[in-house]
Amino acid sequence: AALPADHPLTDGRTGRSPLLTAYRGEPTTGHPVWFMRQAGRSLPEYLEVRRGIDMLQACLTPDLAAEITLQPVRRHRVDAAVLFSDIVVPLKLAGIGVEIVPGTGPVIDHPIRTAADVAALPELDPAALQPVIQAAANCVQELGATPLIGFAGAPFTLASYLVEGGPSREHLRTKALMHADPETWHALAAWVGRITGAFLRAQILAGASAVQLFDSWAGGLSLADYQRFVAEHSAAVLASVSDLPVPRVHFGVNTGELLVAMRDTGATVMGVDHRVPLDVANERLGGRTPLQGNIDPALLFAGDDALQAATLDCLRAGRAAPGHVVNLGHGVPPDTDPEVLTRLVAFIHDQP
Ligand code: CP3
Repeated sequence: AALPADHPLTDGRTGRSPLLTAYRGEPTTGHPVWFMRQAGRSLPEYLEVRRGIDMLQACLTPDLAAEITLQPVRRHRVDAAVLFSDIVVPLKLAGIGVEIVPGTGPVIDHPIRTAADVAALPELDPAALQPVIQAAANCVQELGATPLIGFAGAPFTLASYLVEGGPSREHLRTKALMHADPETWHALAAWVGRITGAFLRAQILAGASAVQLFDSWAGGLSLADYQRFVAEHSAAVLASVSDLPVPRVHFGVNTGELLVAMRDTGATVMGVDHRVPLDVANERLGGRTPLQGNIDPALLFAGDDALQAATLDCLRAGRAAPGHVVNLGHGVPPDTDPEVLTRLVAFIHDQP
């Protein structure tokens, strides 16, 4: 399938941007940078527009979601916008009782734990994605040559919220379900893959120039369990957009042991957290995959000298890879001083 005629990659608005050039593994002049969670609580202008509005309600209000998406681009001059939404938005749109509790994360009314729970899961009506499509289209209108990145949660990370009922450190019930009842697990992961894939595809067709699949919690799995229970479902999500010519970034926390397996689900770029230096990640990946990452978010609190030294290390290690987009090793912490981020972007852009 082709992108729509008015898509920014079709009409040439974003294709030569530093972000897309690096994602394709071509040489860039200067270093493109964006930050996971660049929109959100670190910005006073975000807190202002979110006042009294529930998180998921904000995601599903197109003008507001677009405004919040654009805030960090205006303020920090980052090289990409990332759609203000959440990985649980497609669950909500499919009719799952989910809310995002501030300071906690996604909480599910009725956890999904049995074959009967899985059999009763609703399908997602494509029309329900309209607010997401509208938000992405509104952003792209304003962004010009700056690419919009769309994203989705991968089946394991989303299924872990559904099974546990909320955030969890060890994912015990989720892993127990995989091993005790593989058939139910696979049915659940396949359902999640279908709806999260539809969410991702909708964002591309509405104007996203790249996408990122977040398997944030996959790092809790052994490689053997990842291969046996997870890889095929993430592969299905990426395959559902692989007919469209947009880079596919795949990221998780603590996934040093899974980098190759995650790339091989069909990613064209790997996001790397701060635990694995980029030259080491590049080696593991055989030197053929562009990388994104990986400044430790803790360095945002360490003062400019330490942050700049760590950034130079990151840039140096990133030169080993065929392409490098600078990011943090995980999201921007909510109490980050936004001025630190603005100065960091300028510092990165100043480097040869
Ligand atoms: O700027 C961006 O990066 C785009 C927006 C974005 C959000 N969530 C907005 C958000 C993205 C890419 C996500 C992805 C997401 N959501 C992930 C994967 C990324 C990661 O961090 O590993 C996960 C695991 C979630 C689930 C989720 N949603 C969590 C853990 C939380 C934090 C809860 C808290 O209050 O600490 C959320 C809420 C959320 N998603 C916020 C934002 C801006 C905070 C909401 C608020 O303002 O209260």
